[in-house]
Amino acid sequence: MMEQVNEFDFENRIVSNEYDENMDAEVENSLRPKTLQDYIGQEKAKANLKVYIESAKKRGEPLDHVLLYGPPGLGKTTLSGIIAAEMGVSIRTTSGPAIEKPGDLVAILTNLRDGDVLFIDEIHRLSRVIEEILYPAMEDYAVDIIIGKGPSAQSIHLPIPKFTLVGATTRAGQLTTPLRDRFGVLLKLELYTTKELAEIVRRSADILGIEIEKSGAEQIASRSRGTPRIANRLLKRVRDFALVKGNGVIDREIADFALNALEIDELGLDNIDRRMLEAIIKYYGGGPVGLETLAATIGEEAITIEDVYEPYLLQIGFLARTPRGRCATRLAYDHLGISYSSAPSPKGVEGQQNMDFSE
Ligand SMILES: Nc1ncnc2c1ncn2[C@@H]1O[C@H](COP(=O)(O)OP(=O)(O)OP(=O)(O)O)[C@@H](O)[C@H]1O
Ligand SMILES: [Mg+2]
Repeated sequence: MMEQVNEFDFENRIVSNEYDENMDAEVENSLRPKTLQDYIGQEKAKANLKVYIESAKKRGEPLDHVLLYGPPGLGKTTLSGIIAAEMGVSIRTTSGPAIEKPGDLVAILTNLRDGDVLFIDEIHRLSRVIEEILYPAMEDYAVDIIIGKGPSAQSIHLPIPKFTLVGATTRAGQLTTPLRDRFGVLLKLELYTTKELAEIVRRSADILGIEIEKSGAEQIASRSRGTPRIANRLLKRVRDFALVKGNGVIDREIADFALNALEIDELGLDNIDRRMLEAIIKYYGGGPVGLETLAATIGEEAITIEDVYEPYLLQIGFLARTPRGRCATRLAYDHLGISYSSAPSPKGVEGQQNMDFSE
């Protein structure tokens, strides 16, 4: 049987795209852009959103319900705040797991004001009962509640304010069809380009009062796995190195030095990525290996591999998703310095740009 590879430090992984109280809490809010203008990248989503917002304002109606989806740390929560700000309305924030009882949701809905944004994070984790309250709320701005018990129970159709639901999820595929169909606007957030990330790093440095050179920002950007949250996190760490080992200014050299010290390679891969790829190559001949099997091998949950590790590895073409499982591509072999000819044939497919969250 396979040995369990469990010396990974999944908890404190600096290049994880998932929110981490210790690493992100202090700066995440202050670094959040407040307007569409300041929101860097995501040009397609932004352009569409602009049109819908302008149209809603012209009609004097609330914005259509919006579903934001994509991997963690790409700016879904940020965008929900921007939507409310651009519409000039208040935002009420909650999350799928936080709404436990139907009464919780009814209370939130009836307390909204006309036009308000209700942001539900992790909306794929709403329970079925709660979801069913949302259907008429989204469609007819009303909730059906039952008052009393037994034979004297009465069903009441209660109107609620005309609101905009903004839902966020890392997994659009886990949303039920009836819920997904009730969103008028579906916006998929993509991984950012290095150029966009460099811009984000410079903006964040500005806000935090960190001196940074263009080359330093580019260096951080190129190792941030397409993810603003990681870019901001690396910026803070590199700043520490610049203060202690340098003259306080982040240039290319100190950025390089710091990121190497953190064992983040020039593509933003850390030990966990490298060892996951190595596991596929070493134990499974490069794949295909089923997601569950891979998860068991590296001692991590399948869902975490899918949400946290995989998107970037797929994006850079190191990993391929096939019907029979995951394959390491030739690019991954090359990067790890493992000879591809040592791979047993037939091989899995070559690297593909696959970021499909709709399945
Ligand atoms: N387009 C952007 N421009 C500038 N900064 C951004 C942008 N998108 C995200 N950020 C920064 O990245 C950090 C993470 O963003 P955010 O919390 O919105 O991600 P998320 O998609 O909601 O993540 P999660 O799925 O974990 O909830 C924020 O601190 C924000 O400042
Ligand atoms: Mg969020």
